[in-house]
Amino acid sequence: SSSFHTLYLKFYTLLNEEYKKNLTDVAISYLKNRGFSESEIEKYEFGFSPIDSDLPFKIARELNINSLRKLGFLHGKDPFSGRLIIPIKDEYGRVIAFGGRVLGEGQPKYINSYETDFFKKSSTLFLLDVAKDKIKSADFAIICEGYFDAIAFHRAGLTNSVATLGTAFTKYHARKIRKLTQNVVLSFDTDSAGIKAALLSLKILLSQNFNVMVVMYEGEKDPDEILKLKGSSELVDVVKSAIPAEVFVPKALSKKYDLKNSNAINMYLGELKQWDEVFKLVPKRQENFRNTIKEILGYDFDFSKSLSYKIREAT
Ligand code: CTP
Ligand code: MN
Ligand code: MN
Ligand code: MN
Ligand code: MN
Repeated sequence: SSSFHTLYLKFYTLLNEEYKKNLTDVAISYLKNRGFSESEIEKYEFGFSPIDSDLPFKIARELNINSLRKLGFLHGKDPFSGRLIIPIKDEYGRVIAFGGRVLGEGQPKYINSYETDFFKKSSTLFLLDVAKDKIKSADFAIICEGYFDAIAFHRAGLTNSVATLGTAFTKYHARKIRKLTQNVVLSFDTDSAGIKAALLSLKILLSQNFNVMVVMYEGEKDPDEILKLKGSSELVDVVKSAIPAEVFVPKALSKKYDLKNSNAINMYLGELKQWDEVFKLVPKRQENFRNTIKEILGYDFDFSKSLSYKIREAT
């Protein structure tokens, strides 16, 4: 009910305040080591959950809420205990969940609140509350996969950036962005998981008629690492070097196959055939797409000659 929603928001506001109060020197040095100033630490409202924390239970009791599960917690121990706290807000800036990171090494690196009626990972975009105005005025959104990646873009002045919570980008995420702009720059990690996520996200975005450019990071793994190692202007330059989706797809997929082998080439072309169907809706895109494949293979090709295409056609 709506009155429970009010209580829910109150719970998260109070718990966020408690976590912020408990930010220890160790947590502060962790953040400083990641390049944050005191004022940035306050701005992003980082907190810390004390060892043996009972804060969620204490606050739920004070508010007379019996069902912790409805708040995204289980009875027992505070799951965030000993972790750095990153508040997750809805698009109106209200705290609805937390992310918790281990200070340093340790598994799992991150945990999140359990999903609730008011927190769904599949539709939440981290930092959307601060990014939405700039997404509208700049007329594009940068989408990345990590908390610290979205924050890195904001710190570099690109405040039109949001992050999925490490899960796949969904049609629900796309709908939220679509209200603000038709243009997206995808900036996922350049590891195999990130490339896979980028390709899946692309299918969703292109089916909703977005224009999409993709950033490919050479060497470094993610935007946060680029900011730390090379600074803001380099991070901005990398965004400027984003390539169109139809150029990214053949490049990214070529990494999966040994293109000296003719069977591998057939499989590569078989996979690209499906993307050709998507890109052909815009002739310029299809031309770009086919030229990129030609460049990668070093010769002209014909989709109808690909073995997996033939198999699909014959069966
Ligand atoms: N993630 C998660 N649970 C994990 C690992 C990751 O929820 N066990 C989510 C987090 O939102 C994280 C994102 O996936 O930010 C991307 O994961 P990864 O690239 O592994 O982490 P980074 O964001 O690069 O983490 P950091 O820079 O803090 O090391
Ligand atoms: Mn990841
Ligand atoms: Mn990663
Ligand atoms: Mn990462
Ligand atoms: Mn990172």
